[in-house]
Amino acid sequence: MSRRPTDPASRPFHRINVADVELVGVQKTLSPVLKAKALDNRLPDPILGDGYAEQVMRRLDPDYDKGIFGRNQLGLAAAERARAHDEWARGFLRDHRQAVVLHLGCGLDARVFRIDPPETVDWYDLDYSAVIELRQQFLPSREHCTLISSNVTDLTWLERIPRGRPVLLIAEGLVPYLTEMDTKRLLTSIVDAFPTGQIQLDTVSVSAWHFSRWDPLGRRYNAQFHCGFDEPATLANWHPRLKYAGEAPMNDSPVLLAKAPTAIRRIYRLMNLMPGFTQSSRIVRFQF
Ligand SMILES: C[S@@+](CC[C@H](N)C(=O)[O-])C[C@H]1O[C@@H](n2cnc3c(N)ncnc32)[C@H](O)[C@@H]1O
Repeated sequence: MSRRPTDPASRPFHRINVADVELVGVQKTLSPVLKAKALDNRLPDPILGDGYAEQVMRRLDPDYDKGIFGRNQLGLAAAERARAHDEWARGFLRDHRQAVVLHLGCGLDARVFRIDPPETVDWYDLDYSAVIELRQQFLPSREHCTLISSNVTDLTWLERIPRGRPVLLIAEGLVPYLTEMDTKRLLTSIVDAFPTGQIQLDTVSVSAWHFSRWDPLGRRYNAQFHCGFDEPATLANWHPRLKYAGEAPMNDSPVLLAKAPTAIRRIYRLMNLMPGFTQSSRIVRFQF
């Protein structure tokens, strides 16, 4: 039996009636990230190189690259963030082939296909039910990959996950939308539930959190940040078994600055000169 997914590119192209699945509030935040990954895939030498993102984005919004800002690559740091998470995840899965992966707030990200873990890994993609419905329409199913429709803060979903195995928790672009208390409860519950594991997530700074109140996109989506951290390494203090295991660069990443189109690279270089910009988003990992 083949485990390879059906490449969406090989399916007959048809437009999905997105109106059938209504995304509300924070669920809509998946689309700018997906668009950044889709546009990245069109670079001659992409950062992430995710063909699924381009296919899914086209079906979600056939005109996504039209208009004055249609092909604007300013969101390219999101592709670099995904690449950094992928690299860490691959490393963990190389050493832990029996792992359970919890991909929380997965949106329409095709990480399981990019990483293509061995059959011994059980992968769980979790998001709100409206988003999971879209995933079912836009992305192929896959053995050993289970979709969970749930609010991540309602921890009853954790009862469905097999225990006693190493766990890899990936929360890309999720934590800022949770409160600090919910994030703490999530992380400490994971550490309590598993013998060993890696937690990788990204956070925004306290000023980026406060500024998000005025962010036009956040206002349009009615999705504001609910927490921010200037020292994300200190999240390790939440549990005695949790250890900070390092950070990956995002806004000043050498890969981003090498591969972004010239105009975008210049803008990132300039913005990185502004106080607070480089550290406004941080990608960090923890182990236990
Ligand atoms: C910025 S998007 C990131 C999506 C995906 N991780 C990516 O990087 O492409 C945030 C995602 O988190 C999901 N999300 C936010 N709060 C959530 C919650 N409390 N429970 C489940 N999912 C949540 C949203 O529905 C959305 O899909």
